[in-house]
Amino acid sequence: MDTTLKEYVIELVKEKGKITFAEFMEIALYHPKYGYYQKENPFGMQGSFYTSVDASESFGRTLAKGFERAIKELDLAPMLCEMGAGSGMLANDILNYYKSESDKFYNDLKYIIIEKSKYLIEMQKELLSKHQGKVEWISFDELDNFEGIFFSNELVDAFPVHRVININGNLKELYVIYYDNKLQYYPEEFSTADLKEYFERLCIKLVDKQIADINLDAVKWIKSLGRKVDKGLVITIDYGFDAKNLYAPFRMDGTVTCYFKHTQNNDFFERIGYQDITAFVDFSALMEYGKEAGLNVVNFEPQWVFLLQSGILDEIKKAKSDLHRARVKSLIIPEGGFGTNFNVLIQSKNVDIPDNFVYNIKSYKIFDKLSKNLM
Ligand SMILES: C[S@@+](CC[C@H](N)C(=O)[O-])C[C@H]1O[C@@H](n2cnc3c(N)ncnc32)[C@H](O)[C@@H]1O
Repeated sequence: MDTTLKEYVIELVKEKGKITFAEFMEIALYHPKYGYYQKENPFGMQGSFYTSVDASESFGRTLAKGFERAIKELDLAPMLCEMGAGSGMLANDILNYYKSESDKFYNDLKYIIIEKSKYLIEMQKELLSKHQGKVEWISFDELDNFEGIFFSNELVDAFPVHRVININGNLKELYVIYYDNKLQYYPEEFSTADLKEYFERLCIKLVDKQIADINLDAVKWIKSLGRKVDKGLVITIDYGFDAKNLYAPFRMDGTVTCYFKHTQNNDFFERIGYQDITAFVDFSALMEYGKEAGLNVVNFEPQWVFLLQSGILDEIKKAKSDLHRARVKSLIIPEGGFGTNFNVLIQSKNVDIPDNFVYNIKSYKIFDKLSKNLM
């Protein structure tokens, strides 16, 4: 395994004395040449992890159905913007669905992708070549006056986080230092006043020695996104919880972790650039800071409920094989697979949400349908 990136980090830390964990994570994942997301396909069997997209094309087909209904019900421009599109498979599944099942919608639709990794942009362009002319790649800065549905799957968990620890009642930030010939943590004062503000705003209390992973990029992102959306929905799908649950005292070590070839580990300073680093999303922060930028919460719900609302049961009924059916079920079975820990936040701007809105269906109806269809 090439150690160029590890050597780069060590030199940087020696030169600066210390760097924040967020700086470290940014380099490990997104260094333009050696970062984890910049050089080889991290997804699926050959990579380090699976997302719902890899589980089944039914995930994308189901999202597509829900989006089409939402756009029609809210009378929005037929525009989808996906941020953090990974291999491009989700975009491909969504566009394939429209092309085969909803010709007129496909023709009217404009699909925008915002992706940070140059390597992945090339992969996406290749996979989506049959939808040429339909997809446009832009940077986040270029997004403006957006109308339609802006969505992401497992984007925010890939933003760098700051690590904060409570030591005898004092909150300190964990920096990365080089000491005793190795990279390790060292607690010191916060690198930015934004961390203090975050703790106060979200009323986070840590017990002694508890660590919390704080995603300040998510705050910047949702505030900026809210200003960029003129009219429509922002749908964020990811693993994570509200702040109360996320920073509960039983989570002493925070939630940031690594995945290497489908195995979880906490050896952050090993295999730098060869393993994924990710942390659970604080959905309370997205709701709280989103409000500042005009984003109203429509719903915050488990992924399995969201997929039921979007029509995933049709996919189970239509499944061509037992394996396909099992994969679709893995997306919605509440305990296990993608049913656990995955949640969806739906925010809106400048739209009135009707009572019978697609993402509003009352859960008692869903339980009824679910029990009939999962048996
Ligand atoms: C965990 S992957 C998820 C990929 C895909 N959505 C899926 O579900 O399979 C995170 C994706 O977000 C992208 N990403 C991370 N930070 C980003 C940013 N600031 N702007 C755009 N894309 C970003 C990564 O390059 C990668 O494509």
